[in-house]
Order: sequence, then C-alpha cells, then structure tokens
Amino acid sequence: MDDRGRAAAGSGAVEPGYLPATDMPRFIREMMEFVDLAEGDVAAIRRSAPIVLRHAERLTAALYEHFLAFPRSARFFLREDGGVDTERLDRRKHSLGRWLRESAEVAMTPEFSYYLLSVGLSHSHRAEGSGGSVAPHLMIGAMSLAQTALAQLFEGELERAEARTAIVAWNKLLLVHLSILLLGSLPPRRLP
Ligand code: HEM
Repeated sequence: MDDRGRAAAGSGAVEPGYLPATDMPRFIREMMEFVDLAEGDVAAIRRSAPIVLRHAERLTAALYEHFLAFPRSARFFLREDGGVDTERLDRRKHSLGRWLRESAEVAMTPEFSYYLLSVGLSHSHRAEGSGGSVAPHLMIGAMSLAQTALAQLFEGELERAEARTAIVAWNKLLLVHLSILLLGSLPPRRLP
C-alpha cells in the first residue's frame, strides 16, 4: 500500500477512483475513447459484420485448431486419456462464435460489458482440475490470431481502402475487449 492508501485506510476515507469491474460500462466507454474507437470505426465494423458472420464458423474452428497444435493451449481441451475432448471443444467453438457475432454488432450495452467481464473470469478463475487458469499471454496471443485472421479475411473480400478501414476498426475493438478479458488476471487496481 502506498502512502496515500495508508492515509486513506487510517482515516477510513474511501480511496479515489473506481475498480473497473464495479462499473464496466464506464470502463469500456473510457477504453473506447482512449483507443479512439469513433463512430466511423463502429460503422466500419458493422459494415464488415456480414463477412465476419459468413465466416464465423471457419474462423473459430481455425482458432481452436491452432490451440490444439500447441501443448500449452491444447491441454485445456484434452480428456484424461490425452485425446481431444471434442464435446468440450464444440461447446467452446460455439461460445467463441457468440463472442465474434456480438463483437461484429459492436454491442455497447451494460449487459455486454459484464458479459465480457464474465468471459474473462471464466478464463482467469478456473478450477485446477480442468487445467487451471488460462495464462494471460495465451489470451493476448489468441487476440493476435483473431486480428490476423480478420485482416486476411478482409483483404480477400473487400477492396483495399475498405479492407484497411475495417482492419483498423476491428483492431481497436478487439484490444478494448482484450483489456476487459484480462481484468481477472491482473491485480485489482483503482482507476482515476
Ligand atoms: C480471443 C480470446 C478468447 C475469447 C474471446 C474466448 C472466448 C470464450 C468464451 C466466450 C467462452 C465461454 C465462457 C462462458 O461460457 O462463460 C470461453 C470459454 C473457454 N475458453 Fe476461451 N476465449 C479466448 C481465448 C482462449 C484461450 C487462449 C484459451 C486456452 C488456450 C481458452 C480456453 C477456454 C476454455 C478452457 C473455456 C471453458 C471455460 C469454462 O467453461 O470453464 N480461451 N472462451
């Protein structure tokens, strides 16, 4: 605890600022402002949504194929005998597909911000028996994979300027999502 925290604790005063998880709509709004995710980006994401939705199944399948190719990420999807737990994998593909679809709509409701927080917590707070928590660097890597896959998709489906606009906008949105998905892995921190 720093001097300010000690003084606040001693005096019974509440420390200034807020914990992101206690006000997710504010956190997501401020992150969007910080990365300059403006109306034009929202429009670009929504315009590109049909392409993403058309390919959502293939994109999520490719992401999980990638996870299975590395022991450090595959272990979350294996049965005790070492085989792939296809049932669990199908459930995960479904949830990842839902995230992708809702992202494509740029849902900005309080419910969606808390949904993202709960998705993050379901990675950071997992029981030991089922592989333990997913390390934050795997989440960061997964977002990089998603960015690359979307960039390739847009380059193949859109004319160059529109592809660039879509990629820039999606990159901003995905990293705002990442900042939420990582909250459960970071020590709680009050923000001004
Ligand atoms: C772009 C990053 C990722 C997104 C958006 C994402 C999305 C999701 C979603 C929406 C769920 C369902 C959560 C729920 O039902 O509460 C989920 C569950 C899960 N994800 Fe991810 N995921 C990501 C990265 C990863 C990575 C890197 C791994 C591990 C290599 C992973 C492993 C899992 C596992 C094991 C579950 C099951 C959690 C449980 O039900 O206990 N995910 N993910």
